[in-house]
Amino acid sequence: MLASAIVPAHARAVIFDAYGTLFDVHSAVGRHMAAVGPDAARLSETWRAKQLEYSWVLSLAGRYEPFWTLTERALDYAFARFPQIDRAIGPLLLDAYRSLDAYPDVAKTLQALKARGLRTGILSNGDPGMLNAAVGSAGLAGDLDAILSVDAARVFKTSPRTYDLVLRSLPVVANEVVFVSSNRWDIAGAAAFGFIPVWVNRLGLPDEYVELSPSAVIASLDELAR
Ligand code: LAC
Repeated sequence: MLASAIVPAHARAVIFDAYGTLFDVHSAVGRHMAAVGPDAARLSETWRAKQLEYSWVLSLAGRYEPFWTLTERALDYAFARFPQIDRAIGPLLLDAYRSLDAYPDVAKTLQALKARGLRTGILSNGDPGMLNAAVGSAGLAGDLDAILSVDAARVFKTSPRTYDLVLRSLPVVANEVVFVSSNRWDIAGAAAFGFIPVWVNRLGLPDEYVELSPSAVIASLDELAR
């Protein structure tokens, strides 16, 4: 796809989801594969799936807890689900989650977008403490104009109140915002809000949410800056 079709000429900002999009959520367990053992991948998938489920269930019920709390509770559940894995590794996994690996294409993509005059930012379920730790450890702070947490709205994506935080923070309207996420459900929320949604489908997953489609699908973030 041509670059102009991914980031249209009228776009003024490119806003990224954090976990799974800029940061590899499976890198926490990945750093401790030997200690976690042969069920490492299943532990990591369960951890992520429960973390997200908790965010949706609380939001639908009108409740809110910081995403870090949900991350801790989800890891507790994952350990309970796989009792053969030694729980003593838990604190190390949580430490690793605060300094997840950024995907290799992140820094140069952000820099290239900024060089084209676009504002860059994050809009994430992560609470401010988590986000600042992740951005700091990945050395990305200088490449981002805004680090926005849904904590300011006390509800999780895909509530429209979360996407609206972008419009409250930057001098842009919704159809000038390219919103980039690897999470297809987040793309659905961004599409419903009126952003220009770009799905990073690194794993070649099947499409879903047909009535809330991405405007473009890319395999890696560097396609944004080509
Ligand atoms: C985030 C989660 C949903 O960063 O990945 O918002």
